[in-house]
Amino acid sequence: IIRKKTFAEVQTERLEQAERTILIKCPSKLNENKLLQYLSSHGNIQSHFLFENHGIHALIEFSEKNSIASLQDAIGIPSAVERHVVPFKSRLFTFMLKNPVSQAAEGTPVHLSPQSHIPVKDLIQKLCHADSISSQMYILLNEYQLTEENIRLRFLACSLVRDFARAYFPDSVVRPFGSSVNTFGKLGCDVDMFLDFHDTQKSATKMKKGPFEMEYQMKRLPSERLANQKILSVIGDCLDNFGPGCVSVQKILNARCPLVKFSHQPTGFQCDLSVSNSIAIKSSELLYIYGSLDSRVRALVFSVRCWARIHGLTNSAPGAWITNFSLTMMVMFFLQKRSPPIIPTLDQLKVLADDKDMHVIGGYDCSFVSDLSKIKPTENTETLDVLLGEFFEYFGNFDFRKNSINLRKGKEVNKPESSPLYIWNPFEQDLNISKNVNQPQLEKFVAMARETAWILQKEDKTQRMINKEPWGLAVLLIPFGKSNHSKMKNKVKGIGSETIRSLLESLKLNSASSLQKAVEK
Ligand code: CTP
Ligand code: MG
Repeated sequence: IIRKKTFAEVQTERLEQAERTILIKCPSKLNENKLLQYLSSHGNIQSHFLFENHGIHALIEFSEKNSIASLQDAIGIPSAVERHVVPFKSRLFTFMLKNPVSQAAEGTPVHLSPQSHIPVKDLIQKLCHADSISSQMYILLNEYQLTEENIRLRFLACSLVRDFARAYFPDSVVRPFGSSVNTFGKLGCDVDMFLDFHDTQKSATKMKKGPFEMEYQMKRLPSERLANQKILSVIGDCLDNFGPGCVSVQKILNARCPLVKFSHQPTGFQCDLSVSNSIAIKSSELLYIYGSLDSRVRALVFSVRCWARIHGLTNSAPGAWITNFSLTMMVMFFLQKRSPPIIPTLDQLKVLADDKDMHVIGGYDCSFVSDLSKIKPTENTETLDVLLGEFFEYFGNFDFRKNSINLRKGKEVNKPESSPLYIWNPFEQDLNISKNVNQPQLEKFVAMARETAWILQKEDKTQRMINKEPWGLAVLLIPFGKSNHSKMKNKVKGIGSETIRSLLESLKLNSASSLQKAVEK
């Protein structure tokens, strides 16, 4: 058996691959082979794909990095007739036909790799053809998860930003973190990236041999935060002024974690750039491990997040809503609480850590095992059909007033303070990752979870399939007011059994009053 790669190995490989990669805007009528032929005079092309993003683009991976230098040497600079050009030579190019009319005729149909997911209404259609909720959840996962091509494009975006950072800090690296790399990314999600000077810090010990020592003279500032703000400010200006296709550059330097937001048009990504966020990369790695351990983990997360988005529990705008990151952590906690557990607690992962896995960052213990093969597979065999219902049941009845969610221990812990929803940051133990969530948003989540659990329990799947109505997961992805769920209640009425109807109603009433109790402060 081939050993599964560690998170760090995958990251290093993909960053190196991105450095050998270029992006070319192409004419709409294109002969793919001729493009490849044209480029291959500069070196062997390892892989490529085409995609649509305000016109056709080609991502080209060369086998050797120096092929790019050879190409850059050979190609022209746009004429400065109308507007002056900034002479920064990036790895973004435009491919043109010298004789568009006759050359366009040579164009052949090209395969375009999709970079966005299908609309929800098409997804719901697809789900109705599945044979179980479990297979519906895997269909959703397959439609929404990042593709190989999209991941490459994300690493390329980071690598292009690195080209700017390097102008000042030759050893710096720009690494993606968050949902681009934690296995829970959905097509269309933003690219979180950070500037890493780690190598610079390592070399601090180099000159310690012998009776002498030498070190760099470096500018000193009163705090790391101030240094980060200055660095981000300059790189932000660079992107804004010289970055081809970098638009809407926004410096948000006063945030808890200072960042620069921008839209990268050539790749089509919304990007958030911050500085050496080593703890955030550790939490990305932790989620990567959880997502890789068992196929049910990602399937459940994607379904829950899609459900939350459709019912307005999450929102792409910042605010008091639950974030995807918090929801993902809640699913992880739920999976730790199954019996037997589906994923281990962070403390258990720490026990499995070896010497090279030991990391203390900013005084916080971030040690846990990196080798996936050291983690024993779960003995839990529950189906996703069961897990989905149980997830809503569990959080519909969770005592949020009293308890917090702690992934390190895999146990509910008394809340250390009165935030409505308290999820411990697994590493920075004094931070609540869902501090932004207010009481009304939490109540909405709990109410929706209860209603959903109730729908899943009461639904007659076979009948709905016969009636060609949406069923299972599909029902949960239609806003409840508009769904056939109200029809379903009418059907119950239609059976004529007043007893069953009132029983169901009272169940709902009961849950409504205990809901009130559960979320009251
Ligand atoms: N993060 C954190 N604490 C928070 C918010 C974010 O530690 N309160 C870190 C997490 O590592 C997270 C990353 O910052 O993965 C990026 O945050 P964000 O973009 O909000 O979340 P993603 O996981 O990337 O999810 P999404 O797809 O919604 O962007
Ligand atoms: Mg993100």
